[in-house]
Amino acid sequence: MISKETIQEIMDAARIDEVVGEFVSLKKRGANLIGLCPFHNEKTPSFTVSPQRGIFKCFGCGKGGNAVQFLMEHEQFTYPEALRYLAKKYNIEIEEKEQTPEEIKQLNEKESLFHVTDFAAKYFADNLFNTEKGRAVGLSYFKERGFREDIIKKFQLGYALEGWDDFTAHALKMGYKLEYLEKTGLTIVKENKQYDRFRGRVIFPIRNLSGRVLGFGGRTLSADKKTPKYVNSPESDIYHKSKVLYGIDLAKNAIITNDNCFLVEGYTDVISLHMAGITNVVASSGTSLTTDQIRLISRYTKNITILYDGDEAGIKASFRGIDMILEQGMDVKIVLFPEGEDPDSFARSHRSSEVQDFIREKADNFIFFKTNLLVKDAGNDPVKKAGLIKEIVNSIALIPDQIIRSVYVKECSALLDITEQTLMNELNRVRRKNYNRKLKEKAKESPADDNVEPFVGVPEEQPGFDYLSPEGQEKDVVRLLMNFGNREIDFDYLDENKETQSETADVASFIVSDLLNDEISFINPLFKKIFDDVNNRLNEGIIPDEKYFLNHDDQEIAGLAATLLLSKYELNDWERVHIYVSKEEEKLKTAVEHALLSLKLRWLERKFEENGNALKNATDDTDIEMLLVNQTNLIKKKKIISAKLGRIILR
Ligand code: UTP
Ligand code: MN
Repeated sequence: MISKETIQEIMDAARIDEVVGEFVSLKKRGANLIGLCPFHNEKTPSFTVSPQRGIFKCFGCGKGGNAVQFLMEHEQFTYPEALRYLAKKYNIEIEEKEQTPEEIKQLNEKESLFHVTDFAAKYFADNLFNTEKGRAVGLSYFKERGFREDIIKKFQLGYALEGWDDFTAHALKMGYKLEYLEKTGLTIVKENKQYDRFRGRVIFPIRNLSGRVLGFGGRTLSADKKTPKYVNSPESDIYHKSKVLYGIDLAKNAIITNDNCFLVEGYTDVISLHMAGITNVVASSGTSLTTDQIRLISRYTKNITILYDGDEAGIKASFRGIDMILEQGMDVKIVLFPEGEDPDSFARSHRSSEVQDFIREKADNFIFFKTNLLVKDAGNDPVKKAGLIKEIVNSIALIPDQIIRSVYVKECSALLDITEQTLMNELNRVRRKNYNRKLKEKAKESPADDNVEPFVGVPEEQPGFDYLSPEGQEKDVVRLLMNFGNREIDFDYLDENKETQSETADVASFIVSDLLNDEISFINPLFKKIFDDVNNRLNEGIIPDEKYFLNHDDQEIAGLAATLLLSKYELNDWERVHIYVSKEEEKLKTAVEHALLSLKLRWLERKFEENGNALKNATDDTDIEMLLVNQTNLIKKKKIISAKLGRIILR
């Protein structure tokens, strides 16, 4: 358990822009920061971070909250985990007691898998440095490959000892359940026997953005051709290969600062480039590049440089995959390594500066690279040349930006020795074809299309927000409670002698006592929960402020607070419903009064309707009489409220 004081300390220290900035590339926009939303696919940023308020909000998909909620959503952390993450980031001491086997059992499933992989990574790393075999075989292999010790530690490299169940037996002894050992793929269970997946191999842990271990790659050290060179963890609940990039946790900051990401084939390439001082590098590791992986990169940069070590036939085979990157609106460059060299071997046999110079000089724009390669192939064969033009145009047609497309058309027409117009015609033909195909695909899919791009910067609920619906009016009151609850206003009231008195009160107390007085409550359960909560706090002598709601234990309340507080909600909005007032306090007072009166009027109207229905069905004379009295009273009250509302509106 983390104490309330520590939680407060953590919440006070956490800077939303810093926390989110670890995962999302943010740009300044006025008082806020904006970036591409990590929770849904978008090409124009509608993800907003407000450092002043300590919250984030996506106006595209609607997700929002404070730093803790961001981490819970983004990293799948539990609440205490998110707090621990922040505590670590901001050097806040939490008394963390050792977990007992009992507590380990209680962790939820995914968490249990993470605990196992974390434990395994530490165990393998410990083997590497602290066992005789590990040092003699594993560590000396890495050293032979030229890996420095600091880099070995940075990548958490390890060694799995030989023997059938060295790791499994140790983990079981430490209280880890066989179920989770199997689910992470670390242990293979067959006919009631269990053995280690990784035996006598050096280990490369595969981590996610925040450095949590998802799975492993293990390289054999045996020269035996029959032994597979690499063994990898299987897919699991925490390891989805198509969404993971090896090295991303160590690369993301460098990707942002360099505004470029190098893409290589495997673990060893990533590590050797780090050795050469190049850290903005990731590997797709085993699989060919997926759209999810491209999107992961595109959160940090629009520029990818592929460091390619294959021959020409190989690189031609990869053209399709590269088209996917273009389709995501990214700029792709290619660096071709000399025959027989990969980034790993090249980095080992050259000085850092040579590696960096080589990459810089050789980086070739993908479209030009492809064009030149195909032109060289086609020679003077007209049929081949026609085919290659189609090939090139297919790639250009995928680029979403029209200006960039036209630049390529211009440049390629020179390279291909063909008029721009011819290329342009072909381009338009291909684009129409693609467009029609997409339409057909869309029609086949469900009609609900969640890929629709949001209107940039337009808060989802602002345009359609209905001040006049009952839900809208309740929300309006809640909004005022959250935004201005602790602000003070002067209000007038009639005392026993029917004389007007003036008093100062905070908005929260004013709203709560006014509604309690008239015995009005909320229909929407969430709004009602908030109202009751505020009432309880006020009774304790606490006036809830913005921060109170944003950091609320109840995630539903905190989530709504993020939404309501980040929508562009200014008092000026009242001018849109024809309320014109002068001074700031006047505005607030007017806003509060208006919201309360509207809510009351709506409430009375509903009562009036209910009463009217009862009247229609009533048969008993006394009932009818009572209902009639009610009806008259309601009409009177409605008149009074309407009149008050009218005065406000007309002022
Ligand atoms: P390599 O075959 O070059 O591996 O593959 P290596 O460990 O660098 O071996 P040597 O020393 O050059 O012979 C390069 C990358 O491809 C991935 C690994 O990530 C490796 O780092 N790979 C390779 C696999 O995932 N599985 C394989 O079977 C082979
Ligand atoms: Mn290699």
